[in-house]
Amino acid sequence: MTVSLPKCLQPLYEGINTQTYPEKDFPKPPPWLDPLLLTRGQNFAKEHFYALAYCDILSLIFLFSFKDSLDPLIFTGNSSCVFSAFNRYVSTASRVVSWYESDIFDPTSKAGKNLASVRQMHRHVIDRLKNAQAKEFAERTKIERPMARIAPFLKKDLDQMKGLDKQAHSVGTLPLNQWHSGITQFAFIGMAVMYPEKLGIGSHTEADLEALVHLWAVLGYMIGIEDKYNWCIDGLQKFRERGLALRRSCILPNLRNGDASWEHMSRCMGRGTGLYMPSVTFESLLLYLMFVLNAPMNNLWAVISWRHKILYCISKIMLTIVIYLPGAKEFFNHLTRMGLKVAQNANPDWLQRAKEKAMIYEENFKRVKHD
Ligand code: HEM
Repeated sequence: MTVSLPKCLQPLYEGINTQTYPEKDFPKPPPWLDPLLLTRGQNFAKEHFYALAYCDILSLIFLFSFKDSLDPLIFTGNSSCVFSAFNRYVSTASRVVSWYESDIFDPTSKAGKNLASVRQMHRHVIDRLKNAQAKEFAERTKIERPMARIAPFLKKDLDQMKGLDKQAHSVGTLPLNQWHSGITQFAFIGMAVMYPEKLGIGSHTEADLEALVHLWAVLGYMIGIEDKYNWCIDGLQKFRERGLALRRSCILPNLRNGDASWEHMSRCMGRGTGLYMPSVTFESLLLYLMFVLNAPMNNLWAVISWRHKILYCISKIMLTIVIYLPGAKEFFNHLTRMGLKVAQNANPDWLQRAKEKAMIYEENFKRVKHD
């Protein structure tokens, strides 16, 4: 299995048998920390928060397609319907912002508290999975009526693509292992680092991207990734090399195999995010992901409705053209933060409306499916 992976990924793949089980004690800073680079990384991340937030939600779509990646998420049930996904990803985004804005080594800061919570959540999930009987696990990880419709068209598109590995690599069956954790770490910034111009990062230098990669090397360490499995620890060039290899050998081949569970969880994420970022829909995200990854989308294009195609085109114009206008970056940051704030501090009326909208989405979807 390892042999067919590109050489640069093989040492990371060895982590498939080692669990990321964070200890209770809050970790000390890593010995290889470069404090100036870390601060530069945090400043760059704050300056391009809208782009990184967009990169994160796009990346979830490919992360969910990796074989064996979804079971822990479906098992906890925290993101397998539109409204729970909305809560889950608002919470994730606000934790990630805190890692860009405050001291990640101080356990009493917002960032420190969020790191400790995520470490605890990961421990808790592993313990629950360990204690689950096979029957309970099978029952809990089955989605009864998945919202799925367009996966076969994505497959048709990717079947036509040359140069992809035939075999799609799994994240492994050991929950939260180091290989899976490293791929997740990559996903938080990978596409923004590899294709900054497509994700609205117009103004950047190599040193900025180097700093962003260092920030995530430190965050990966603080989450519990061992140095030998840390995707970001060897700097920008290695990170890019690994990213390109992952695209060819895992990301696109796994998307080609995307099944009903993949589509369901991705739809929940897209629709949930759309509740506080109205320009986002699952379909527009999927088209944007294909654009960023430079993959064909003729068959998808033919089955996706104009509303989603227009939203995709608007996102593209915003992130590749409008972003260069004076003040645009600040405006997008403001909008993203505002959406997040509204969702975080939502009053019961707003939440009730969001819940109803989430229901309507599911009803609409059922109707479309049976037409
Ligand atoms: C660098 C790697 C990772 C980072 C930065 C990360 C980040 C996070 C964050 C921010 C949360 C909090 C979500 C919330 O507030 O509701 C969380 C929870 C969680 N994470 Fe991770 N994670 C990583 C790796 C993984 C991996 C590899 C898995 C395996 C599936 C995983 C599964 C979970 C689960 C199950 C939860 C609990 C919430 C839920 O049930 O959805 N994480 N993680």
